[in-house]
Amino acid sequence: MGDGLSKTKNRILKMLVDHQNEYLSGQKICDCLGCSRTAVWKHIKDLQKEGFKIDSVQKKGYRMTAPSHHLSEANILSSLKTKKLGHNLKFHETLPSTQKEAHHLAEDGAADGTLVVADEQSTGRGRLGREWHSPMGTGIWMSLIIRPDIALHQTPQLTLLTSVAVVKAIHDITGVECGIKWPNDILYNGKKIVGILTELQAEASHVKAIIIGIGMNVNADAADFPDELKKRAASIKSLTGREHDRPAIIQAILKHFELLYNTYLEEGFEIIKLLWESYALSLGKEIYARTVKGDTIKGLAKGIDDEGVLLLETRDGTVHHIYSADIEI
Ligand code: BTN
Repeated sequence: MGDGLSKTKNRILKMLVDHQNEYLSGQKICDCLGCSRTAVWKHIKDLQKEGFKIDSVQKKGYRMTAPSHHLSEANILSSLKTKKLGHNLKFHETLPSTQKEAHHLAEDGAADGTLVVADEQSTGRGRLGREWHSPMGTGIWMSLIIRPDIALHQTPQLTLLTSVAVVKAIHDITGVECGIKWPNDILYNGKKIVGILTELQAEASHVKAIIIGIGMNVNADAADFPDELKKRAASIKSLTGREHDRPAIIQAILKHFELLYNTYLEEGFEIIKLLWESYALSLGKEIYARTVKGDTIKGLAKGIDDEGVLLLETRDGTVHHIYSADIEI
């Protein structure tokens, strides 16, 4: 993965995508990329095996006939719109958990912006140690490693930043307008489409790495969800009635994340906070917060503070600072 050979393959793919429905001669591809015709032919065969629809016609060359929504290293990398995020990509057909893998990689010094993606997770996990259903070929299961120079208490801000990037990406690629339930569940009509798990590697007060896990239900059919999830979760396909391009959604998440993240690093949390509030579903409403200790607090969701902590006002006027809880709207 990520070696010289697959870089050439990704560049061939990019040329074909950029000239979709046009023939590109083998010679032209060789001249542009400085490789042999046999190498081009081999890479095209690999791409066809990966599910790309590429015509090959003697004397004309190669032509991509339809975009592939299939997830592979090549089609994630081929149209990445970021400067840094995702370029160090670790793609796996299957993994126990991208989050677990990203933790190992981060411990071993993986670069800022490293992305782990799998087409299936056998033991995907969610917040509070819950299981995360991650079947093959239907969703986006990915974990991003970032190494910002921020204090520990600021890390919840990045959770909120991630949810804004994801909502924007879903809208760009699928047209669906989701909302955010604090801190970072992404919902449509009360059903969860995306879950985000932010975890830390830290030393004393210093952040070494933040691992942001994103699980998105994209192309699963409603009937594919286990019974216990049917009421609470949905896929984007079940909302729109059509399949969506997972590589394009990943590229859009990374693009929005990078833009917001650079703004955050340069200007602070203020703009991200405003954007997050514009998508928030619970603000100004009576909600229940079930804390990790097991208490349930009912109150008015007043807003979030400058660190991303939820402010919940109970009847007696006390404002509770909620750092971690399950929210019911
Ligand atoms: C939640 O509980 O809402 C968070 C779910 C996070 C799931 C994602 S899928 C990719 C990454 N790998 C995991 O095992 N979990 C996260």
